[in-house]
Amino acid sequence: MKHTTKLAVITALIGGALSLQADVEANWKKHCASCHGADGKGQTTMGKKAGAKDYTDAKVQESFTDEQAFKATKEGIEKDGKPVMKPYAEKLTDDEIKELVAHIRSFKK
Ligand code: HEC
Repeated sequence: MKHTTKLAVITALIGGALSLQADVEANWKKHCASCHGADGKGQTTMGKKAGAKDYTDAKVQESFTDEQAFKATKEGIEKDGKPVMKPYAEKLTDDEIKELVAHIRSFKK
């Protein structure tokens, strides 16, 4: 292996390890808060337009299981045949999605 190739592999490995640590708050802000709101209430311009629900409401929290939340985040959501939330399978790892689901649960009052 050429020296430059080795260096590229090492850089990629370190980058991968760092991105695993990207914290759940940062992921929520970056990918989800535009619709669901930093506070999970969905009261953003995009959230209102898309129909995001209030995740501080216990009834809303009960309306989906952790498995459904995981699947929805990974595969996206369609309403009346139109995508209202895009899939995140390529942007987030399974572990990151699990952390985000736990984060959503923490909005419940
Ligand atoms: C373009 C706006 C938009 C973005 C961005 C978005 N969502 Fe959603 N999401 C929605 C809408 C609309 C719904 C359906 C109504 C609701 O449950 O709030 C929804 C529903 C959900 C549900 C409930 C699924 C169910 O089965 O009822 C979860 C969980 C969820 N989103 C998680 C996330 C996570 C995690 C992110 C970021 C990685 C995210 N969303 C980003 C619009 C969005």
